[in-house]
Amino acid sequence: MERYLSKHFATPDMRRLSVASKHGAYEMLERALKMEPGEVVELVKASGLRGHGGAGFSAGLKWSFVPKDTFPRYVTVNADESEPGTFKDRLILERDPHLLLEGALICAWAVQAETIYIYIRGEYFYPTKVMDAAIEEARQKGYIGERILGSDFSCQVYTHPGAGMYICGEETGLIESLEGKKGQPRFKPPYYPAAIGLWQAPTIVNNVETLAAVPWVMRLGPEKFASLGTPKSGGTCLASLSGSVKNPGVYEIPMGFPLDELIYELGGGPPNGGKVKAVIPGGSSSPILTAEEAKGIKLDFESVADAGSMLGSAAIIVVDESVSIPQMLYWVLRFYAHESCGQCTQCREGTGWMLRLCKRLLDGKGKMRDIDDLDEIADAPDGTTICAFGPAVSWPTKSYLKKFRHEFEALVKE
Ligand SMILES: Cc1cc2nc3c(=O)[nH]c(=O)nc-3n(C[C@H](O)[C@H](O)[C@H](O)COP(=O)(O)O)c2cc1C
Ligand code: SF4
Repeated sequence: MERYLSKHFATPDMRRLSVASKHGAYEMLERALKMEPGEVVELVKASGLRGHGGAGFSAGLKWSFVPKDTFPRYVTVNADESEPGTFKDRLILERDPHLLLEGALICAWAVQAETIYIYIRGEYFYPTKVMDAAIEEARQKGYIGERILGSDFSCQVYTHPGAGMYICGEETGLIESLEGKKGQPRFKPPYYPAAIGLWQAPTIVNNVETLAAVPWVMRLGPEKFASLGTPKSGGTCLASLSGSVKNPGVYEIPMGFPLDELIYELGGGPPNGGKVKAVIPGGSSSPILTAEEAKGIKLDFESVADAGSMLGSAAIIVVDESVSIPQMLYWVLRFYAHESCGQCTQCREGTGWMLRLCKRLLDGKGKMRDIDDLDEIADAPDGTTICAFGPAVSWPTKSYLKKFRHEFEALVKE
C-alpha cells in the first residue's frame, strides 16, 4: 500500500530540516502562500479530509466557519493524544515534525491566523523536545516568523505542555488549559472555537494527524486525495491497532479499509490461536462490537457508524476470548471516573457509581439488580452534559452490558 502520512516514519533523521527538505518539506507551504487563503480552504474542503481527533468533522468546512473581520485568530494543534488505545499522533510528532508544522502553517495561512499553539500531552517529553527543535530550525530558515518566505504572512509557533488530564484533549477544555486555567470544557453553544475560542477569539482546533494530512492534500491535489478513501471520507488514516493481535502498531490504511484485513493480515490475528470475541473500533469511548457485528465492516466514519459504533480516532482494540468483558469495563470506568472534570453531576457522580457497582460485581458481591442499576446510571450522562465525555462513558458501558450481559450475570450466579 502506498504510504503518505507515515511515508517517512522510517527515514533516518527526518526530524532534521536538512533531511526533511530533501523530501520536499515546506514546498506545499510555498505553493499555498501563492494562493488566496479562501482557495486553500476550498481545496481542503474538496479533498474530503475529515478530522482524525475523534468527531470526524470536515477540516475544510471547519476552517470556513471563522467569522469574517474578527482578529486575531489562532490555530491550535491538538496533540493531547489521551484516548485509551490511540498512539498515532506521537509518531508524527517524533518522526516527521516538519510535516505537521507545514500543515499547521498552511492552515494558519488559510484562516489568516498569526499564532499557532501545539498543545502536547504532558507526558510526551521527547516528542515535545523534537517539536521544539523542529520549530527552531524552521524559524531559522524563514518558514516561521515574520514575513514567511518573503510573503506578507507572519506566524509564530509555540509548543505548550498538556496539563495531564484526558479532558484537556476536548477542544474547549484544551483552550481553557492553554489560557492557564483548569481544563474544564465550555458550553457549546456559544463556545464553538472556530467563532469563540482562545481568549474569545476565532480558533481552529485540529488534531495532529488532520493537519499533517494537509501538505498531502496539496501535493496530491484534492481529487486524488479524496479518491484514496471513500466518497465521504477522503485520504488515508493512521490506525492504532492494539489488544489481542500478534502485530500491534500503527498502520496507515486508506479510509474504507476492511477491518478483517487489518486484524488478520496486518495484525496477524490473535496470538496463541485465540479467537476474536469483540472489537472496539474507535478508542475506549466507542461502543464495543461483537465479533459478528465487526465482521466485514469497512473502516470509515459512515460504515463504522452503520455497524453501531464509531471510528473516532481509529484506535482499534481487539478483544479475544481470553479477556473478561466485566474486567475491561472496570478498567474503562476506572479511567473515566478518574478523568471526569467534575462540572456535571451526571458525569462526576455517575462515573463513580458505575465504577463502584462494576467493582462489586467483579468482587463476587454483586446482585442482579446491580447490573440493571449500572445500565440505568449509564443513561444519565448521555446528552445531558457540558461535553462529549458524558456520552463517551455512557455508550461503551451500555454496549458492554447489552452485548455481554451473560458475562456480568455469570459473576452474580457463580
Ligand atoms: C473527552 C474528549 C477527549 C478528547 N481528546 C482528544 C485528543 O486527545 N486528541 C484530539 O485530537 N482530539 C480529542 N478530542 C476531540 C476534540 O474535542 C476535537 O474534536 C478535535 O481536536 C478536533 O480536531 P479534528 O477536527 O482534527 O479531529 C477529544 C474529545 C473529547 C470529548
Ligand atoms: S461531561 Fe464530565 S468531563 Fe465533560 S464537562 Fe461534564 S463533568 Fe466535565
